[in-house]
Amino acid sequence: MSQTSAIPYGLPTERDAGPFAPPSELTRLRAVRPVSPLLFPDGHEGWLVTGYEAVRQLMADTRFSSRLDIGVLHVPYGTSDMPVATEPSPQIPGMFIAMDPPDHSRLRRRLTGAFTVKRMRTLEEHIADIVERQLDHLARLAPPADLVKEFALPVPSLVICELLGVPYADRETFQVNSAKFLVRDQSIEEKMAAYGAMMGYLAELVTRKRAEPGEDILSDLARHDDLTIEELTGAAFLLLLAGHETTANMLSLGTFALLEHPEQLAELRANPELLPGAVEELMRYLSVADIFYRYATEDIELCGETIGKGSTVVISLLAANHDPARFENPGTLDIRRTARGHLSFGHGVHQCLGQQLARIEMRAGFGGLLRRFPTLRLAVPAGEVKLRTDMNIYGVHELPVTWTAPAG
Ligand code: HEM
Repeated sequence: MSQTSAIPYGLPTERDAGPFAPPSELTRLRAVRPVSPLLFPDGHEGWLVTGYEAVRQLMADTRFSSRLDIGVLHVPYGTSDMPVATEPSPQIPGMFIAMDPPDHSRLRRRLTGAFTVKRMRTLEEHIADIVERQLDHLARLAPPADLVKEFALPVPSLVICELLGVPYADRETFQVNSAKFLVRDQSIEEKMAAYGAMMGYLAELVTRKRAEPGEDILSDLARHDDLTIEELTGAAFLLLLAGHETTANMLSLGTFALLEHPEQLAELRANPELLPGAVEELMRYLSVADIFYRYATEDIELCGETIGKGSTVVISLLAANHDPARFENPGTLDIRRTARGHLSFGHGVHQCLGQQLARIEMRAGFGGLLRRFPTLRLAVPAGEVKLRTDMNIYGVHELPVTWTAPAG
């Protein structure tokens, strides 16, 4: 491959253009070479894709594999506490986000079959209750409070409990363990212990659902004899992993973004019917799930570049969603724009399975927060909010907020 404009030092992650904009080096690269060679810190020569059209094409092309067991996962930035991979990771049964068709299709079909319209409607009612109860909890606190801990993390965790049919008695332990993967101040040993506890718990839950199915999605899946207990456990874990951190960071970073754009916030408060569009725009603008990986299973042409077989390809959804070739004034948060077509839920066979659910959660979450806390504001200067540039999913570590009027 030609190294003429390769980034020699891995992927830039520092948010030097502000907390909501892509790193300026990515913006520069997207303009000059939207499919760029990228030299990884471990010496691997791979690619970085930042242009909207190129990302869309790539994600629609299953010759770009999602499997972690066919190549070493080259991490495009220096790692702190994670050991560097030297060989491919084994496939985890049920973890179909890291599979290709036909294995992927078999498992995904089972799940989409369980996400029925009727079930989504029932879930919607439960989600509205979960949000109201969590807002009651927030209103009882003496401000300032951390919106991440008190609202944004618990809501999606409780929604996943509903989805999986986690009994009420287990929910507190479930929440504590699942939050441990997502916060910074846990050692790798603590994270591994939480992972072990969660997998053990889910395996037990799945076994119970198979013996005595209930009304939840997991029970629906457990009724299918062609899915093994290991596959069901892996699929349940995937729902937790994919649905918790993403939605939590959208709720907290989205609130931060609205508070930093008071005119947009005022417009949304005055016109609550703008909420669905505002959620799409926040999804585009923030792209909290930014970086994804694929492996080229053969030599593939992509927007004029030849990606060699075996290369690791790094995708930036954030850069793609801020591509001026697709969205006018992409750096402006505009809740009235049509943000449809954004790539924040991915594209192609792996496109987010939980997107309807995530939308329901965000509409309920932002809608409830704005209604119940009309004087919500940051409790620290914006520059002091700690950004999650060191995590897989972007967002804020904490969001100290305060309010004056008693919340109704
Ligand atoms: C896949 C984003 C919420 C379940 C994906 C992908 C993206 C994404 C970008 C594609 C991954 C790829 O192509 O490799 C998000 C964002 C969310 C969100 C930004 C919140 C705002 C959820 C929720 C659930 C969920 C609530 C379910 C509870 C999944 C699953 C996949 C997936 C199971 C894998 C689909 C497959 O491989 O076929 N998500 N997601 N997500 N998401 Fe979400």
